[in-house]
Amino acid sequence: MRKKITVVGAGHVGETTAHYLAEANLGNIVLIDVVEDMPQGKGLDMSEAGPVRGYDCYVNGTNDYADTKNSDLVIITAGMARKPGMSREDLFTSNKKIMDSVLDGILPHNPDAKVLVVTNPLDIMTYHAFKRSGFPSNRVFGQAGILDSTRFRCFIAMELGVSMRDTQAMVLGGHGDTMVPLPAYTTVAGIPVTELIPKARLDEIVARTRGGGGEIVKLLKTGSAYYAPGAAAVQMADSVLNDCKRVLPCSAYMDGQYGLKDIYIGVPITLGENGVEKIWELKLSDTDLALLQKSAATYKEHLKILGYN
Ligand code: NAI
Ligand code: 2OP
Repeated sequence: MRKKITVVGAGHVGETTAHYLAEANLGNIVLIDVVEDMPQGKGLDMSEAGPVRGYDCYVNGTNDYADTKNSDLVIITAGMARKPGMSREDLFTSNKKIMDSVLDGILPHNPDAKVLVVTNPLDIMTYHAFKRSGFPSNRVFGQAGILDSTRFRCFIAMELGVSMRDTQAMVLGGHGDTMVPLPAYTTVAGIPVTELIPKARLDEIVARTRGGGGEIVKLLKTGSAYYAPGAAAVQMADSVLNDCKRVLPCSAYMDGQYGLKDIYIGVPITLGENGVEKIWELKLSDTDLALLQKSAATYKEHLKILGYN
């Protein structure tokens, strides 16, 4: 039977995610938004592209959560995006309210679904979705590390003039200024990037990666990135829906790993049909471990703003 995937929010990230999901033939898609008729229009347009593009997925736009019933995976992209000068954290209060209304719509119809959160501030919203849903932590996870890592990969490929496909990178930590790109786990065709790019230049590329989201916001002026975020969400969807067991950096619930407890943060996980199937504990250098723990401490403080202690 075809898989059923719900994408909540039919804005830039939601529509791009739905588009990539269809192109990847991952299943039938429900695209839901509060704006009347808009998701129906986008969904119909994407379905009509199927015969030409060669996919066999329908994208059903709706404003009614009953249509999301029994989804295998729910991807939440509903929420406000950053404008120039805003940090992801500026989105706290408004996006918490949106997340609450989305979960109230989704949960009664999807008690067994896996939930992939994209809405910012990512690690905080994923934690909130976990708490409010009451789902086991393996079924609630967030997208950010793949996006941050693909930016790092892209910048390294640009620097060296090599194929992006041959670059592998790992970025841990929260999706924000405290993220932790790991040059020690970053390679080109298996060659450590630390052997290929001088440290001073690599530091600049790391800094650009940390500011990668802001760089796009500054250029777009009216919103934030959506092509790379959509692609990243779909890589996670593929691993869940096809039980690929990819090892990917994602926001996952920490229960003692890396010395962190009761928080969502970006770490490498095995992602399969059961959601988060394993959290990988890398042997980080003291410096990188300290950076990860500092990132987590920042997010612990942010959680207090939402009333969590
Ligand atoms: P957008 O403004 O283009 O779309 C947001 C959509 O959410 C709109 O269509 C709006 O009508 C809808 N919406 C608002 N309230 C809703 C509700 N209660 N129920 C259903 N739909 C609702 O914004 P964009 O660019 O799509 O970004 C969406 C979110 O994703 C933002 O919070 C943004 O910061 C975040 N984001 C996260 C990334 C990540 O890596 N985790 C990357 C890129 C964006
Ligand atoms: C990004 O990194 C806005 O979080 C989003 O592009």
